[in-house]
Amino acid sequence: MTGSSRWKVAAVVLMPLIGLLLPVRADEHEHTYTDKEEVVLWMNTVGPYHNRQETYKYFSLPFCEGTKKTISHYHETLGEALQGVELEFSGLDIKFKEEVMQTTYCEIDLNKAKREAFVYAIKNHYWYQMYIDDLPIWGIVGEADENGEDYYLWTYKKLEIGFNGDRIVDVNLTSEGKVKLVPNTRIAMSYSVKWKKSDVKFEDRFDKYLDPSFFQHRIHWFSIFNSFMMVIFLVGLVSMILMRTLRKDYARYSKEEEMDDMDRDLGDEYGWKQVHGDVFRPSSHPLIFSSLIGSGCQIFSVSLIVIVLAMLEDLYTERGSMLSTAIFVYAATSPVNGYFGGSLYAKQGGRRWIKQMFIGAFLIPAMVCGTAFFINFIAIYYHASRAIPFGTMVAVCCICFFVILPLNLVGTILGRNLSGQPNFPCRVNAVPRPIPEKKWYMPSITYYRWQWTSFLSAASTAVYVYMYSFYYYFFKTKMYGLFQTSFYFGYMAVFSTALGIMCGAVGYMGTSAFVRKIYTNVKID
Ligand SMILES: *[C@@H]1O[C@H](CO)[C@@H](O)[C@H](O)[C@H]1NC(C)=O
Repeated sequence: MTGSSRWKVAAVVLMPLIGLLLPVRADEHEHTYTDKEEVVLWMNTVGPYHNRQETYKYFSLPFCEGTKKTISHYHETLGEALQGVELEFSGLDIKFKEEVMQTTYCEIDLNKAKREAFVYAIKNHYWYQMYIDDLPIWGIVGEADENGEDYYLWTYKKLEIGFNGDRIVDVNLTSEGKVKLVPNTRIAMSYSVKWKKSDVKFEDRFDKYLDPSFFQHRIHWFSIFNSFMMVIFLVGLVSMILMRTLRKDYARYSKEEEMDDMDRDLGDEYGWKQVHGDVFRPSSHPLIFSSLIGSGCQIFSVSLIVIVLAMLEDLYTERGSMLSTAIFVYAATSPVNGYFGGSLYAKQGGRRWIKQMFIGAFLIPAMVCGTAFFINFIAIYYHASRAIPFGTMVAVCCICFFVILPLNLVGTILGRNLSGQPNFPCRVNAVPRPIPEKKWYMPSITYYRWQWTSFLSAASTAVYVYMYSFYYYFFKTKMYGLFQTSFYFGYMAVFSTALGIMCGAVGYMGTSAFVRKIYTNVKID
């Protein structure tokens, strides 16, 4: 925890604007309590069990609040706001190490409309989420009987809180007190709190949620291992074939060198050597191409850094911190985008570098924001807590224009000046050579269309991933409704596209290094 706050302090010093991302804590900063100190139970969201992203404010269902009124709303971070976290004070009176016997905290006056709301929620398997001292707790709203005629509400929240010294390390919730929903009755909501000494260390208190048995998720170790071996095997195989072919080619080319000029078929080269005058010709559409490569390099570095940070900093222990960190890292790595995009564009002889910089800088943000904007409309229509507040949208726009764009400019200028010269191993012929006829399935790896080919063939992974997401939706989940469907497919499209751009950039970089290498090693006359 201290590590992550140190990281955040550094962030504030480096960039005041990023201060928007930092948590403003209303309470629980230290996670230590004195006896009888107030412990806040925050109500977060409620929503259908099968649609994890479709969430609403807890009090959008006609639940009643406890009598205690201190803090009414939690000041959320950017990451939380974007993920639809809506913390509201439950009104339950909980004090550190103070037992509470079953106590009624409020009564629901169940009129017809309220009953209808609860019945709808129970029919759709609504569950709610709460937080105590940053520990998440889940509970279900109610239950229907087998014939689906009678509906019951769980009215008794039995909290068992484990403490270790002056810290909270474990929370369990048991729902009891099933009450039938009959119109025009009053339903008493009650709670109890039991405190138990626990041996769990404060640092390990989130381990319970990582345990595969807790969410009943499985880590597919075998599949991971399988894919890993497959990749190693394929890489080995392909590089072996390439090495053999190249060695043969090199041998042939050097034998040719030794023959005197008379014996040689004048100017008649063969194999990949014959296109040496064309291979470093700029790709078609260099502006889009270099923007894609720049963005891909940026996504690659963001993924790498975020994965490393997630491993080092336990980002899952704080709400929304994964998203906040990702946005921060994305903004901070903008120079990478500018550098690779700008230098590639300069190498290809592009002149409209300001236009290239704008396109490169805003390609990914525009894609993500466009999708989010579209989904936001549906979220607002549904009154879902996923609807992004106006202030948050302004904050995101500010980050785009005042952090990402200037940093991108720095990267672009560096890239153009440091590595913007076309230092290719062989000259580019003035007149392009006609492209020989080829069948559509033959890869044009060493002709001068190789840039787009290498990019697109690596990026095609994204098509597979997006197609698999359809299979997953229909056969592995029980999601339903317009909101969840558009959320799922919208963000899967964003994810797949980003993955495609990243893989494409990696593919292009690899191919480019390979092509340079083979033409550096052969003597061109
Ligand atoms: C919560 O439940 C788990 C599993 O049943 C148990 O091991 C743990 O001691 C419980 N914690 C508290 C504070 O009651």
